[in-house]
Amino acid sequence: MTDTPTALVTGGSRGIGAATARHLAARGYRVAVNYFSNRAAADQVVKEITADGGSAFAVRGDVRDDDEAAELVRRAAEGGRLDVLVCNAAAAHFTPTPLRDLPWEDFRGKVTDELAAVYPLTQHALAVMSGQGYGQIVYVSSLLAEGPSAPGMIAHGTAKAALNTFAQFVACEAGPLGVNVNVVSPGYVRTEASAGIPAEVQRRIAERTPLGRVAEPDDVARAIGLLVGSDAGFVTGTVLRVDGGAGASRM
Ligand SMILES: NC(=O)c1ccc[n+]([C@@H]2O[C@H](COP(=O)([O-])OP(=O)(O)OC[C@H]3O[C@@H](n4cnc5c(N)ncnc54)[C@H](OP(=O)(O)O)[C@@H]3O)[C@@H](O)[C@H]2O)c1
Repeated sequence: MTDTPTALVTGGSRGIGAATARHLAARGYRVAVNYFSNRAAADQVVKEITADGGSAFAVRGDVRDDDEAAELVRRAAEGGRLDVLVCNAAAAHFTPTPLRDLPWEDFRGKVTDELAAVYPLTQHALAVMSGQGYGQIVYVSSLLAEGPSAPGMIAHGTAKAALNTFAQFVACEAGPLGVNVNVVSPGYVRTEASAGIPAEVQRRIAERTPLGRVAEPDDVARAIGLLVGSDAGFVTGTVLRVDGGAGASRM
């Protein structure tokens, strides 16, 4: 068995996941960089990590598929251990749409995909982690889980609220197995997924944010870093806002 702690980062090829893969690799983790369709982006992340002296490999898989999730976990744990699972993949695509224009099928698809992106992976990772008696899982949620802070986000916010509640239940089941389970909850983060948000809206978000700017993927990666490793050994069932104070502000 390898002495090097191992992390699986879903959606590690771009955005928040890529930043998290780089951050965990810099912290000494051997990182399985999961991607779905963009092999070149995943290879680039692996290349950057390796160039910096870290250890990483790309692994394709649709996190929503039970068999592919099982294979992802198997590949990540090939060295004999799985220390960290970061469920980050943006597998549930959507266009911001208000309730009046959002067919039930689209709403259902969004919520189902969001949960499908974590459910089988959590089961397979917990099977490995419970066997070894340790492990840490971090889910990437959204400040929208707390309620509407932008128009047209009813499906996304409801899906992420379900994810937050799911994580609390997993934390209670996983604690006795020696596994910590936590959530990071970013506000707006500058990634390809959010690039369509108009500059004017980004500026207004920054103005409403006590720390005076929107988040970069590295801000979220470093917060995920707070929730893994021995310093987070007694932290489980928490939701950590990564929003520059936007969720606390009423101004
Ligand atoms: N950006 C924001 O403002 C923001 C705010 C709060 C929360 N979040 C959350 O942060 C997470 C990451 O978002 P992001 O903005 O970093 O997204 P992004 O830049 O669009 O990256 C999405 C990542 O997810 C992967 N992916 C998509 N479908 C997948 C599937 N079925 N199976 C496996 N991987 C899949 C993509 O892989 P490929 O490269 O292969 O396509 C890519 O690596 C999401 O959960 C999102 O809801 C984002």
